[in-house]
Amino acid sequence: MSPSDLPDLPCFLNGEFTTLPHAKVSVLDRGFIFGDGIYEVVPVYDGRPFRFDEHMARLDRSLAELRIPNPKSRADWRTLVDQLVEAYQKQQGQGAAGSAQLVYLQITRGVAMRDHAMIPGLTPTVFAMVNRLYIYTTEERARGLACVTADDFRWKKAHIKSISLIGAVLARQLSADQGAAETIMFRDGYLSEASSSNVWIVKDGVVLGPPKDNLVLEGIRYGVLEELCRQNKIPFELRPVSRAEVLQADEILLSSATKEVIAVTELDGKPVANGHPGPIYDKLHAAYQRAKQASV
Ligand code: PDD
Repeated sequence: MSPSDLPDLPCFLNGEFTTLPHAKVSVLDRGFIFGDGIYEVVPVYDGRPFRFDEHMARLDRSLAELRIPNPKSRADWRTLVDQLVEAYQKQQGQGAAGSAQLVYLQITRGVAMRDHAMIPGLTPTVFAMVNRLYIYTTEERARGLACVTADDFRWKKAHIKSISLIGAVLARQLSADQGAAETIMFRDGYLSEASSSNVWIVKDGVVLGPPKDNLVLEGIRYGVLEELCRQNKIPFELRPVSRAEVLQADEILLSSATKEVIAVTELDGKPVANGHPGPIYDKLHAAYQRAKQASV
């Protein structure tokens, strides 16, 4: 695909609103050369970003790890998200009500001659784009997802939402090669996460997830699911989860900005429990839909 073949979607680059075919960055941008940057993916429902403050807090944490100053205030990020969503809705001829988008935000350290050390004083590159958020159909949700398992060969700073995503790309391709939707990874025999989502198991009515440490990205849905479990009186616990526990789980769930919460019904070609989404999935998915409504 050449840049001119990209869809004409609205985007923002270093202070200018443009569209994807026209946005260009320097070949010496450290994001291009080193993957030296971070990103966020914010879901937007009915024209309003969902859990925006939580996404901004994680953006701050990722930037702090990379020692990149935040180039915008939270209010300015919010304005940018609103402007992109508005531009998208205008372009698509749709109103805010009932619509769903994803806004992607990326910050890199900026442009400089190639040198691994963090060159101080650079102007960070700011890029943002918007697209529709695909919502799974009822039939797709009832079928659930097929996933495969793999060793987690990624680095030990998975808590940073880094744009250096080759580990995630290699991991995801293992499932893509099998026609599966995600790759669920284990480090030293314990569950970490999937290539671009968090993983949960349900055992005896308890929702279990890996601890929030350097081996997983703390998805914004960590907080959301904990809250929804509390509201629905579903026990929720973060602790190391062994591979054996995953293989014997009553239910397996994935969560992310794009997937919301969805059931895994097949793992490595075998059904998960009875091969259908379970009752805890049903409750959490319904609660997630209510939380979206309540936030708009
Ligand atoms: N991915 N773990 C990884 C490695 C991820 O890349 C993601 C999100 C998550 C879930 O985080 P959240 O609930 O905040 O979306 C967990 C995004 C959607 C992406 O890269 O497109």
